[in-house]
Amino acid sequence: MILVTGASGNLGSATLAALRTRGAAATGGSRTPREGMRRLDFDDHVSLDLSEVSTLVLISAGYAEDDQVVGRHAAVLDAAVRDGVRHVVYTGLTTAGDHLGFALAHRATERLVRASGLPWTILRNGLYAELFGGLLMWAEDGVESAFGDGALAAVARKDLADSAAIVAADPAGHCGRVYDLVGTPITVGQVADRLGVPHRTIGLGEYRRRLLDETPGLLPFQPPMLASIATGIRHGFLDGTAPDLAGLLGRPARDPLATAVAAASATRPEASF
Ligand SMILES: NC(=O)c1ccc[n+]([C@@H]2O[C@H](COP(=O)([O-])OP(=O)(O)OC[C@H]3O[C@@H](n4cnc5c(N)ncnc54)[C@H](OP(=O)(O)O)[C@@H]3O)[C@@H](O)[C@H]2O)c1
Repeated sequence: MILVTGASGNLGSATLAALRTRGAAATGGSRTPREGMRRLDFDDHVSLDLSEVSTLVLISAGYAEDDQVVGRHAAVLDAAVRDGVRHVVYTGLTTAGDHLGFALAHRATERLVRASGLPWTILRNGLYAELFGGLLMWAEDGVESAFGDGALAAVARKDLADSAAIVAADPAGHCGRVYDLVGTPITVGQVADRLGVPHRTIGLGEYRRRLLDETPGLLPFQPPMLASIATGIRHGFLDGTAPDLAGLLGRPARDPLATAVAAASATRPEASF
């Protein structure tokens, strides 16, 4: 059986749905499992029961400091070895993201995956088009961002879910492979044009100030993480393309611009201009 971790999250639930569409025998693991899923909380080691799992799709459990994220991934990989899992598929971060503030947890996890002794496949996921659109800030007369004219090789999350499902359904065909799953480069200017509004670039210092002073609910590690994404895009470090996504999917990738526009539209204030 295939088990997808983080199955209540966006990527995990879409991966599980894609596997079921393909007719694969798959279930989910989650801290908040729905019927038929296993309760799986990487912070609660007693919950890490992977018996009868042949292929583990390990969705990265981010949203914490590196030591906590790496510790979570180490615990679930230990359980995978103990319980006889035969292949692990890890959803990580695009190669171009090496300089991003949260890259280290992904690269450290890749080391753990390779050292586990289990057959593995690493999916180096590009940044979501949904994230790109969702990070635009609506102002009175348009949108603002710290991305400048930089482009992002953004990916629709569903394409990453489909890729994970394709690999998990036939893991032997992808053993020992690292796939760099990035899409077509898009800019905020293109998103703004589609939205029919102007885009204004703000400085990285102003962006960080807004994250620290005006964005309630952010955890301490998140402002530097988001600022690193902004400087990476702005200075052209995340616009490189690779053939792996379309190659795995066996079809052209979804249009990341349309996805980013939809995400930006979803945060548009109702009474806006
Ligand atoms: N490429 C990108 O642009 C991008 C953007 C944001 C995040 N990410 C990374 O990709 C992952 C999946 O993205 P997403 O869009 O699905 O994020 P999401 O919807 O916010 O979901 C967060 C995920 O983290 C899991 N998680 C958190 N703490 C966990 C724990 N203690 N034990 C087990 N699982 C835990 C959640 O699992 P349950 O709730 O089911 O337990 C859920 O799958 C994120 O966790 C993050 O590492 C990538």
